[in-house]
Amino acid sequence: MCGIFGYIGSQQNAPEIILNGLKVLEYRGYDSWGVAVKSENRIAVDKHVGKIGKASVSLPAGTIGIGHTRWATHGGVTTANAHPHVDCTKRIAVVHNGIVENYKPIKDDLIKAGHTFLSDTDTEVIAHLIEKNLQYESFQEAVRKAFNTCQGLSAIVVLDLQTDVIVAAKTGSPLIVGFGKNELFLASDVSALAAHCKKAMYVKDQEMVILSYDNVSLYSLASGKKIEPHIEIIDYIAGDNQLGSYAHYMMKEIAQQPEVLLSAVLDKKEIEKLAKVIKNKKKVFFVAAGTAYHAALAGVYLLSEMAHVPVKLVVASEFEYIKEEIDSDSVIVAFSQSGETIDVIEPLIDAKAKGATLACVVNAKGSTIYRMSDVRVLLHAGPEKAVASTKAYMAKLSVLLCMSFLLAKKSGVGKLLDQVLHEEKRLLSKESIRGIKKIAKNLKSTPYMFTIGRGLSYQSALEAALKIKEVSYAHIEGLPGGELKHGSIALIQKGTPCIVFAPNDKTYDSIMSNAMEIKARGGYIIGISYKNSDVFDQFLEVKDLGVGSILAQIVPVQLLAYYLALEKGIEDPDKPRNLAKSVTVK
Ligand code: G6P
Repeated sequence: MCGIFGYIGSQQNAPEIILNGLKVLEYRGYDSWGVAVKSENRIAVDKHVGKIGKASVSLPAGTIGIGHTRWATHGGVTTANAHPHVDCTKRIAVVHNGIVENYKPIKDDLIKAGHTFLSDTDTEVIAHLIEKNLQYESFQEAVRKAFNTCQGLSAIVVLDLQTDVIVAAKTGSPLIVGFGKNELFLASDVSALAAHCKKAMYVKDQEMVILSYDNVSLYSLASGKKIEPHIEIIDYIAGDNQLGSYAHYMMKEIAQQPEVLLSAVLDKKEIEKLAKVIKNKKKVFFVAAGTAYHAALAGVYLLSEMAHVPVKLVVASEFEYIKEEIDSDSVIVAFSQSGETIDVIEPLIDAKAKGATLACVVNAKGSTIYRMSDVRVLLHAGPEKAVASTKAYMAKLSVLLCMSFLLAKKSGVGKLLDQVLHEEKRLLSKESIRGIKKIAKNLKSTPYMFTIGRGLSYQSALEAALKIKEVSYAHIEGLPGGELKHGSIALIQKGTPCIVFAPNDKTYDSIMSNAMEIKARGGYIIGISYKNSDVFDQFLEVKDLGVGSILAQIVPVQLLAYYLALEKGIEDPDKPRNLAKSVTVK
């Protein structure tokens, strides 16, 4: 989702530095981008629709500038709606992550007062509000008051023609100041700073920061009073960021899963700590979104079946409607790859206010969720660049498996993960991929499909459906096997594909009955199981690994999603249309 990058320093090529910073943020997902630089007597702005690719910026040289990658919320994907936005006098330029929830009344008032708007965005009101405040206030105060007028969770960065500073403020969306040699940076993601600096300051909510050529000062947004800066050493490890021999990051990340299984559980002490908190608290809540939600669902089944620990799982964006029962005897465990998903951050803020313990299972060290949690399990999966999450999902399953063994006081999880690793390697072999490619070819023109599973494999069905729809744009519904006949079976006709997860567990007989019901109505069954059956039109073997089967059985479907996207000629499976890697708006 939207990315921010700012620069002030001794180098003349601010536009280029900013463009390179934006490129690092590309993986977050965006549909347009722009850069503004202060040069001599004007603020020059260059904005574009589409991906940065090999583009360069047509801007004059300069030493102060800001840039942005936009993921449209208010207003279509147009050059006018791309950030930075300027005020009527073109004195200031603003980039913004988040949403100004009360933008409509503000915009109406500003139009009445004579301001002219050039875009349909909520962001542009910030530029005009600052312009209005500048009639009576200093630049710094004008920004502070404008930001405080806006409701919602946002981060803004503002460039001014008349002063040699960049002012930024935040509540909700992340913002980090990077300290270089004779230069300062601002970014929405620490990964964009790692190449430039070793020291950083994570701007906290309700703080405003002012960057000049040689100084950084921090203020309270509420009072405008100065506060002590809190500088830290960046311990972000860039990890392996290169594609190597792979055509896409999605394939690379699928292929990394066998190693991720083991690295995810290296930090045994933290996993033990989390298990202890879960055991000692009366109420246990899991919150997550998207793929992370499916991993958390696996955790609910694993903890129930193996350790008899009841967990309430909540889709993060629904949490605010059930939060009344949270109290100091609750633990909220957030699952997230990025650690920046706003839907997941908000429940944590609510739960903290109610005295609950916060815990997280995240991949991004230093992310907002990581920083706000009391107990932190890191996934150590390395950077995940493809929007469709694969290896971070696998890492979460590995942690959850390990934790379930701990809570059940069972030994042997290491051996099991080793077996899963070997099976995943087999599933990633050339021979196995050849079979999957054939199925992808067959499914190429299918308008819709189904996938079913029961028990532990119910979440596999949900995750399989999400992967396939995310990257191949085929409509596919994931269901618990038993639910199909309560409605969706009406859509089964001759040739309708259905992926059936049938591992060797207590769900086998029932899920096979469901498969037969589909077959009896003409359905085309792709069975993912430890043994073949007459019911299957296509068979993808996944060896029986007991509870570990859920880790291995998703691999063929991740591959199927990827090859289906390629078969359909989808331009870049790493960046599916409309999606963002890190969803920072509600
Ligand atoms: C976005 C991504 C999904 C991801 C979800 C949660 O919607 O497109 O792939 O699963 O966010 O992200 P998180 O970083 O919190 O795991």
